[in-house]
Amino acid sequence: MTKLFPDGLSFSGYNTPSRIECDIYDLEVEGDVPPDLNGRWYRSGPDPQYPPYLGDDIYVDGDGMISMFNFENGHVDFKMRYIQTERWKAERAARRSLYGKYRNPWTDKPEVAGKSRGTANTAPIWHAGRLLVLKEDHVPMAVDPDTLATLGDFTWNGQLKSKTVTAHPKIDPVTGELLLFSYECEGDGSSPMCFLIEDKSGNLVKEEWFDPPYVGMVHDFAITTDYVIFPIFPTTMDPERLKAGGDHWKWDGSLPSWVGIMPRAGSTTDIRWFKVPTSCGFHVINGFNEGTIVHLDMMISKRNGFPYIGDIAGS
Ligand SMILES: [Fe+2]
Repeated sequence: MTKLFPDGLSFSGYNTPSRIECDIYDLEVEGDVPPDLNGRWYRSGPDPQYPPYLGDDIYVDGDGMISMFNFENGHVDFKMRYIQTERWKAERAARRSLYGKYRNPWTDKPEVAGKSRGTANTAPIWHAGRLLVLKEDHVPMAVDPDTLATLGDFTWNGQLKSKTVTAHPKIDPVTGELLLFSYECEGDGSSPMCFLIEDKSGNLVKEEWFDPPYVGMVHDFAITTDYVIFPIFPTTMDPERLKAGGDHWKWDGSLPSWVGIMPRAGSTTDIRWFKVPTSCGFHVINGFNEGTIVHLDMMISKRNGFPYIGDIAGS
């Protein structure tokens, strides 16, 4: 018998778990859908299968659920399916939660020790004829674009060395390339980052590793015509804290922020790191360059912007 989900921010309001896989033929429509608007819109997000065994969790730890809205001759059909990750399958078989704290494998039940913790719960991307669903602490998961059936981990036929890939890659509209990056490339608790390029035909043509100034949450990045921008903010990871069962992320306001700028014509050894005032950011709005002047547009706050992430000072 599955117990009720706990009260609180992560399981109420729009974070309320639906746990519903469904097909709805001909959605009701307010107004009119243009009859020549044909195609598909995919979305994904966290939708936890079971209440957390530790009693609480943060909403970004939920199992990935993907939806498809199929637009056809003025009609819209809907389909929603769980991404069947190793984690989802293990908990499904056990009929209960087995994984512990967000991005802390040292808090998992012994029966899932060493198993994948990926949830594929953040963003879908369509590129080179593939539908991938992404979550920044794991490799992409491939999904059948017609049935939404999970096809499995996607590693460019085993070519990818990193154990993680960002959920927010960028398509260059001019070259057709998909530009990506990874952080904690050796898995939770590790420090390297890398930069990746998938060409317009779907081949992984670049994977270059590098070390950031420190390990911070690198949720997003920016590309311009000539540069790649890596913003690093002090929402920090400490491997010793993880091993002791602590939180993956803590805000450390004693550290500066950094912006790494790499020429696209160069490599990660050409990254220049610029120290900037302590700040907290998450999503990038845009980036562009005028010659060698590089612009990065994003919202930042002076302090921790996440209500579910604590401070190393204890607040
Ligand atoms: Fe995001």
